[in-house]
This record gives sequence, C-alpha cells and structure tokens, in this order.
Amino acid sequence: MSASTCPATAPLATTQPRVIVVGSGLAGLSAATQLSKHSIPVTILDCADRPGGNSIKASSGINGAPTRFQTGPDDTTFYDDTVRSAGATFTSSQAEERERRENLIQTITNRSKGAVEWLSDEMGVDLSKVAQLGGHSRARTHRGNGGKPPGAAIVGTLLEGLKKNPFVDMKMKARVTKVLKEAKEVVGVEYVTDVDGKEQTKSIQGPVVFASGGFAGDVRGMVSKYRPDLTGFPSTNEARAGSQPLLVDIGAKLVDMDQIQVHPTGFLDTKDESATVKFLAAEALRGEGGILLLNNGQRFVNELQTRDHVTDALTKAATKLDTDLRQWDVTLLLDEGAAAALDSHMQFYLWKGLMKKTTMGDLGETALEIVQEYADIVAGKKEDPFGRPAFGNWSLTDVQADSVAYVGKVTPVLHFTMGGVIFNDESEVLDDQGQAIPGLWAAGEVTGGLHGHNRLGGSSLLECAVFGRIAGDQAASFYQSHYLAGKV
Ligand code: FAD
Ligand code: SIN
Repeated sequence: MSASTCPATAPLATTQPRVIVVGSGLAGLSAATQLSKHSIPVTILDCADRPGGNSIKASSGINGAPTRFQTGPDDTTFYDDTVRSAGATFTSSQAEERERRENLIQTITNRSKGAVEWLSDEMGVDLSKVAQLGGHSRARTHRGNGGKPPGAAIVGTLLEGLKKNPFVDMKMKARVTKVLKEAKEVVGVEYVTDVDGKEQTKSIQGPVVFASGGFAGDVRGMVSKYRPDLTGFPSTNEARAGSQPLLVDIGAKLVDMDQIQVHPTGFLDTKDESATVKFLAAEALRGEGGILLLNNGQRFVNELQTRDHVTDALTKAATKLDTDLRQWDVTLLLDEGAAAALDSHMQFYLWKGLMKKTTMGDLGETALEIVQEYADIVAGKKEDPFGRPAFGNWSLTDVQADSVAYVGKVTPVLHFTMGGVIFNDESEVLDDQGQAIPGLWAAGEVTGGLHGHNRLGGSSLLECAVFGRIAGDQAASFYQSHYLAGKV
C-alpha cells in the first residue's frame, strides 16, 4: 500500500450525499446491508484490491448464546465469560468508563442470539455447528457443517446481496485519507483512488460509518508504537496501516491501544519460516479436541484457556527457535475424531502442507505416553492436571504406535487489536469530553474498549455483526433527518 498523500488540488466532489461506509469487512458489510434495508444510498470505500478485509479469513466462527444450534440447557454465561476474559482492564476502570464497557458487553452478549439468527435465518449462512473455544464455559462458537470456513461463508453471502442491491455502490482501491468535518459534524470523506493509472483525490458528502478494522498487521507502524515489546512477532493480519489516526484527527479518542492479542497458534510453515504473515491454526482445532505438545512431547497448558494465558504459558515453556522472527517449537496434534469434525479446514491445511497425517509412534515415546494420558482424561479415567474443561470430538481411547495423528508446527502470532476509538452501545464515536461526534459511527475492530485485556475467540465476527447493524440503523435515521429533511 502506498503512503497516505495530501491532495495537490481541490478534491473532486461526487454529486448526491450518501452514507459512506469505510471498509468492506464484516462490520462495513453489516452496516451497508442494514442501510440498504432502510433504502438509504450507500457507498462503501475500501483501499484493498478485493473486499472482505480480515473478516473473510475468519476460521473458527461467530459466538451466539443461547441459540437453537447449542445443545443442553440455555447458555446464560456469555456475559460473565466476556467480563472474566476482559480482566483487569475492565475491573480497574473508573465508574463512567466501567459503565460504558459493561454496556458494550451487555450489547454484544444480549444481541448474539439475534446476530446468529440474522445470518443464518435471514441471510442463509449455515452456522449449525458449534465448538467451545478458549475462555468460554460453553460451546457457543458457530460455523457451518462443512463447506466454506465461517469468514468466507458470511462475508461472501453479504457481498453477494450487496452487489445486486441498487442502493449500494462499492469502490475498491479507494483509500480514505481524511474525514471531513464542518462545525462539529462529520460531513464526508476524502479518498485517494486510481484513475487511469494516476492517483486522484476525490470526496463524497454524507454521514460516515467507520469500519476500517484493526492494526495487528501494521507491525512496523502502530504495533511498534504502542507495543514495542511485540516487535518481531509474525501476524495473521494483512499488512496494512491502521486508520484510527484519521478519526483522532477529527476529535475521536483512543482507548486500550496497548492491548494487542497474540494468538498462540499461527502455523509455522517449515517451507517458509520467515513469512511475516502466517496462516492461522484455527482455535477450533483445539476446541474440537486438539492438544499442544512441546518438543519433548509434554503437554504444558489447558489448551482451552484464554489466548493470553495459552500464549504466556507457551512462550515460557517452549523452546525458542533460532529464526529472524520470534518463534517457538510447538506441535498441534489432533486425532481422527477431532480432525473429522473440521474436515474442510483439515483438507485445506493438509493441501497447504501446514499439517500432515502421520502416526502417534512417529512422535516419539514420551508423546505416545502423553497422548495416552490425554485419551484417559477424555475418557474420564484421570483428572487433567491442567484443568481442561472440554474435549470436543477427540475419540481415540487406546493409543497405539500406528494410531493416526494429524500434526502441524505452530507459533504465537499477532492477531487482534483490542484498542481503538472509544464508542458507545449506539456505535457513536466519542470525543475527549465523552460526547458523540455527530455524523460519525464506528463498528468492528477499529473500535476499542469492548474486549478489555483479551478478546474471546468468535467475538470479533459477533461485534462486527452487532455494532455494524446498529451503526447502519443509526446512520440511516440520521441521514433521513439531516439529509432527506432538506438540511443539505
Ligand atoms: P476488516 O475485516 O479487517 O475490514 C476492514 C477493511 O477496511 C479492510 O478491507 C481494509 O482494506 C479497509 N480499510 C482500512 N483502512 C482503510 C482506509 N483508510 N480507507 C479505505 N479502506 C480502509 N474473529 C472471530 O470472531 N471469529 C473467527 O473465527 C476469526 N478468525 C480469524 C482468522 C484470521 C486469520 C484473522 C486474521 C482474524 C480472525 N478473526 C476472527 C478476527 C476477525 O476476523 C476480525 O477481527 C474482524 O473480522 C474485523 O472485521 P472488521 O470489519 O472490523 O475489519
Ligand atoms: C481462530 O480461528 O482461532 C480465530 C478466532 C477468533 O479470532 O475469534
């Protein structure tokens, strides 16, 4: 991506005001879908070549509770799990901020059932399979039963609907460089685009929904600014600059910028160890029964703890590799039962050479013993010394040297930024006085404060759907009252 440039000439304005959505990931697509439902003209701007952002890569699923796809009694613990995961960042915040954080968590957890129903029942996305990810006390992360991984399935479905929608116009390779404000109100954006091979600056008038994602791919820029100690980690995110500063320029305030999630399992492709952007080993691989082994064959952690906990345990216990990047020597192992539950994911990882099919005997004597111990724990014959609460679809009971094993090398990766612009439960962006900036909303990873110290797996797609739709509704009613009622 080229660096942001200031316009050399007065920008060309397009004609009719529209609601402008910055970003075509799930947050932007959810907002645009909602706006078009209200018959509001929308322009989506995205600087990438192709739509979908990091959302299209999502591999484990979207949280919802309680839903009809879950089994057992109604799931009532999602709010508590989210607060526990948010940790001290949540509990130590001052009263007013604490209330805002509580409201945000209430909003995503209370609306999670509706978000899953919207995607499955209205949009037709298969979300019928449910797994338990780290830090969750119940299985509540929804994905399809085979077919595409959840990010591609959800984003693909929304995009298909928007592409044939007469209210929606989508411009790719259109990088927003400035948010336009008149008096106190946001009234449009400037963006740089390619016209006949030349960069041109244009502008569009209208209220703005910002859905430009996080900055975990901005490794040398915002990550090194806010967390210099994370320099040298690879990332799962596309390498692109964070766009939060554009909002700071017009008075937005940032929160939790140093809270960057390091996911414990990015694939370490032995053919390309120096790759700075890595494929993710979906947390669902552990959720469905997979375990983590050190190079001496030992387990070292409850694999279903929160990501911050697993990453911390891994970097303390595992052998550091002698590579340019900061990487460790850990094996992710699944039996046939766990692998079958994620068949389409596994086919992709095997095809890419990120995992291989082998035998338990191939892993060495210690690993064989440790896997038998784990199988006994799953069967209820032994207590897990690490306190793992669930075992997904692990089915192997009698571990033999020729029992099938699926293995891949994994290492921690920068994955998600919990920090971003301060916003409230109506998706309004707040200034340093805590006041909403009129004409501006934000949703998805560009926002901060919701997840505190650690985001639970599956809650990012959820926040995109929930707050993206709220932003769409809010911007629609603002457009109706400010633009259609004769203000412009
Ligand atoms: P994005 O999807 O990243 O979209 C932002 C878009 O904004 C991008 O297309 C970008 O090009 C565009 N943009 C940025 N700046 C500008 C600008 N200035 N002008 C114009 N356009 C701009 N979460 C889950 O809940 N469940 C999962 O299973 C899951 N799996 C994941 C797997 C991977 C490999 C990764 C990387 C993430 C995963 N996540 C998952 C996290 C989740 O996918 C993302 O955090 C979330 O989708 C972010 O969505 P978003 O819409 O906020 O941003
Ligand atoms: C994963 O598949 O492990 C990612 C899930 C998430 O980030 O929520």
